[in-house]
Amino acid sequence: MKALTWQGVNKLSVEKVPDPQILNARDIVVKVTKTVTCGSDLHLVGGYIPFMKKGDVLGHEFVGEVVEIGSEVRKHQVGDRVVVCSFIACGKCWYCKQELFSLCDNGNTNPAITEELWGYSPGGCFGYSHAMGGNAGSHAEYIRVPYGDVGAFTIPDDVSDLRALFASDSAATGWMGADLGNVKPGDVVAVWGAGAVGQMAARAAILLGAERVIVIDRYEYRLDQVRRHIGAETLNYEQVDVGSELRERTGGRGPDVCIEAVGMEAHSSGPDHLYDQAKQQLRLQTDRPAAVREAIYHCRKGGSVFVLGVFAAVVDKFPLGAMMNKGLTVRGAQMHGQRYIPMLLERMQKGELVTEHLATHVMPLKNGPKGYQMFKDKTDDCVRVVFEPTG
Ligand SMILES: NC(=O)c1ccc[n+]([C@@H]2O[C@H](COP(=O)([O-])OP(=O)(O)OC[C@H]3O[C@@H](n4cnc5c(N)ncnc54)[C@H](O)[C@@H]3O)[C@@H](O)[C@H]2O)c1
Ligand SMILES: [Zn+2]
Ligand SMILES: [Zn+2]
Repeated sequence: MKALTWQGVNKLSVEKVPDPQILNARDIVVKVTKTVTCGSDLHLVGGYIPFMKKGDVLGHEFVGEVVEIGSEVRKHQVGDRVVVCSFIACGKCWYCKQELFSLCDNGNTNPAITEELWGYSPGGCFGYSHAMGGNAGSHAEYIRVPYGDVGAFTIPDDVSDLRALFASDSAATGWMGADLGNVKPGDVVAVWGAGAVGQMAARAAILLGAERVIVIDRYEYRLDQVRRHIGAETLNYEQVDVGSELRERTGGRGPDVCIEAVGMEAHSSGPDHLYDQAKQQLRLQTDRPAAVREAIYHCRKGGSVFVLGVFAAVVDKFPLGAMMNKGLTVRGAQMHGQRYIPMLLERMQKGELVTEHLATHVMPLKNGPKGYQMFKDKTDDCVRVVFEPTG
């Protein structure tokens, strides 16, 4: 079959790779009909997460049709139209029982790298390097889905593939940020990043009853989507001072909940950007945490900061003093999608959650390298690129 593969830093190509097979009794094989780029993929493509091997298949967000099932699969049948959670979880271990699915003890079959990096290994992910299990990704005609009953969800008839596609990752991630970030009715919520993840976090905050939701970015076309499709306020950090503006809009108190949806390649306009970039390139820090610093600094006293952006290991100039002295709750996580996807599909069905506008570009998989270039450079008002392997 054909798949979009990583061939080196910033080098992608469509290659022939072996067809996936059922390896375990709980596996299913899915014929991918739509698969979408994610900000997380950029960290892999650019070599910021250095655990890719030449020929690895990218992609972790997808919908498709079940074409094969293992002997212990109960929930799914051949022919089911499904959306699959980007993180792989067994559904039976201690972490899965607590609904902390991305921390599954069995989802990552190659735990040594992350055990070394972080002390314990979280679960695995599709197409997300050998640190996250070395699983083949979804930018391919077919994909093997381990624990198919846990990770794949049947899409209701009246929800389109394009809408459901975003339940796979960005909508579930955004929801988790608002939920575990403890958004309560009446709260003021600030979200850093107006990509698909930030937009979905903002929408979740609104649906959870936040009174004001403010999304921060510098790309006007993305902020325009936020105003039109999400119903949140916006703030362009190249035009106004984020701190004074947030203070102004919150009666001087600061946001109750700050959600960071930017990640390790954050941009910033101050001198700290050059400093962060130099240190990252010299491998003196693995990540550029500009938005995390801001979120911690601008959050109200006693507020909550949730880090949705992906970070690899260690950062410099972390505002520990602000975190401690202001009594903040700081959390982060890879997404526990299995916990939210059925509810998200219901909200999609009711029209409370719309996602189609995020798919600014739809193209056949053979145009994958071009699509990624556009997504990376944010040209042609690109938010997300959807690939159709059968197209
Ligand atoms: N926790 C999870 O499970 C999970 C799941 C999916 C994605 N992610 C991560 O979420 C992050 C966002 O993903 P995405 O797909 O929306 O990415 P994206 O690249 O499309 O969007 C990131 C946005 O952040 C903006 N940005 C950069 N620096 C900023 C700053 N200092 N302040 C405010 N905005 C800034 C960019 O302009 C861009 O619009 C990535 O790090 C991705 O890896 C995490
Ligand atoms: Zn993703
Ligand atoms: Zn588990």
